[in-house]
Amino acid sequence: MPYLLGVDIGTSGTKTLLVDTAGRKIASATEEYPLYTPQPLWAEQQPADWWQATVKGIQRVLAEAKIDAGDIAGIGLSGQMHGSVFLDADGQVIRPALLWCDQRTVEQCAWITARASKAVVEAETLNPVLTGFTAPKIVWLQQKEPAAWARVAKILLPKDYIRFLLTGEFATEVSDASGTALLNVTTRKWSAAMMEACNVTADMLPEVYESPEVSGRITTAVAALTGLKAGTPVVGGGGDQAAGAVGNGIVEEGIASCSVGTSGVLFAHMRKPNTDRLLRTHTFCAAVPGEWHVMGVQLSSGGSLRWYRDTFANSEAGVARTMGVDPYELLTQEAATAPAGCEGLLFLPYLTGERCPYPDPYARGAFVGLTLRHNKAFMVRSVLEGVSYGLRDSLEIFREMGVEPTQIRLSGGGARSAVWRQIQADIYGRECVLINIDEGPAFGVALLAGVGTGLYPSVQSACAQTISVVTRVAPDAAAGAVYARYYPIFRKLYANLQDDFAALAEAYAATAV
Ligand code: XUL
Repeated sequence: MPYLLGVDIGTSGTKTLLVDTAGRKIASATEEYPLYTPQPLWAEQQPADWWQATVKGIQRVLAEAKIDAGDIAGIGLSGQMHGSVFLDADGQVIRPALLWCDQRTVEQCAWITARASKAVVEAETLNPVLTGFTAPKIVWLQQKEPAAWARVAKILLPKDYIRFLLTGEFATEVSDASGTALLNVTTRKWSAAMMEACNVTADMLPEVYESPEVSGRITTAVAALTGLKAGTPVVGGGGDQAAGAVGNGIVEEGIASCSVGTSGVLFAHMRKPNTDRLLRTHTFCAAVPGEWHVMGVQLSSGGSLRWYRDTFANSEAGVARTMGVDPYELLTQEAATAPAGCEGLLFLPYLTGERCPYPDPYARGAFVGLTLRHNKAFMVRSVLEGVSYGLRDSLEIFREMGVEPTQIRLSGGGARSAVWRQIQADIYGRECVLINIDEGPAFGVALLAGVGTGLYPSVQSACAQTISVVTRVAPDAAAGAVYARYYPIFRKLYANLQDDFAALAEAYAATAV
């Protein structure tokens, strides 16, 4: 019986998942690690932590599954996108990696755009250069830590650093490479113009594969360390969003997904590299060879609810603990006691700045419309609604692009609560569904490993053989009518407050001690 292994190098931890070819979970393990914020707006991790988590995760999964490692047909790698791992000529990590949620590179984004020209950036990468992306991190290193830059021999994305340690190969794949601002997203090859603008030479970048292609094999040393079999193929895999899309079956047009973790992503598949006219959403290569996807990334989705829980809901969390229930379940039940629309209370979810549709590190969160009647039930409901309105912004952009999904597959934390699922269906005005598997990107790359090693004929067929819809939530017309009144007001608030957000950031910078 062949098995497939998926490893997802996430921001809070690394998940290792073993499945069979029917998609059944055999074993899984998650190993967590810290995120460092040495300065406001900075976010870093130690690549060595990812590696230890990968090794431990593989060891735990193999111990739990008690299978012959020789029966693992292939391994797929997924990971947090956009991070920068800088290696010296001996393959040693030079400094901690800057992460996707790091916002320190505002100046470097402008610098690259001016140097390459906006027209070239857009024509080559199909996206603006954003603070989260990899290229401005590289330029930041050149400008701020020139001694470290002088030692850089290779630049890798997080999961590709793990691939290097597993196989000895410097390789990436098109979906993750799309988020570097160094790839020509149409031709799916590194962009000479962008490399030149960023002072990066071709030998610093890994070879680019399609996601299901075999990119290397497990080395003898890694086999001895982990229990894997030497020679096991490792396929390209995918950035966590593209990989998660495979794991949700978003590999054809007409279906979208909405996954809510710390960040939230509205995602749709496209046969052609279609873009928003204002580039407010990202057009990247899909994990399906020769196809693309569009996605809108909200930075604080589940992150907003976590902030609410930690700041306002200590007593609810305490009660939940004594009852043995998930604090989020208790909070969303409390939210259900407030009416749709929260009697005019709106929450802006920009707690860590925003990316889509507003690429603005200085955007801030807000409750707008508070009255004496608004208690905690209203406030937590307005958080759930505000996050959903923010994600609907991306759905509206998809519609303008002619990308019109009829069904949205929910996953992650936002899919767990029945209350939030209904709020999402009502705000998106679309049927929202759950599928039989909620294993995220690790499952998607396990399927890609199956495609790359010939167990499935195509990515679409791998999904069709393993994924089915199990729960459907229809939008409620009455609630939808309420949200239709509030949504345009929500949309106007960012524009109205944008200058004030910038002024607040400036005032803070001028007065911080
Ligand atoms: C996608 C993005 C996040 C990270 C972390 O553009 O920034 O999804 O990959 O999960």
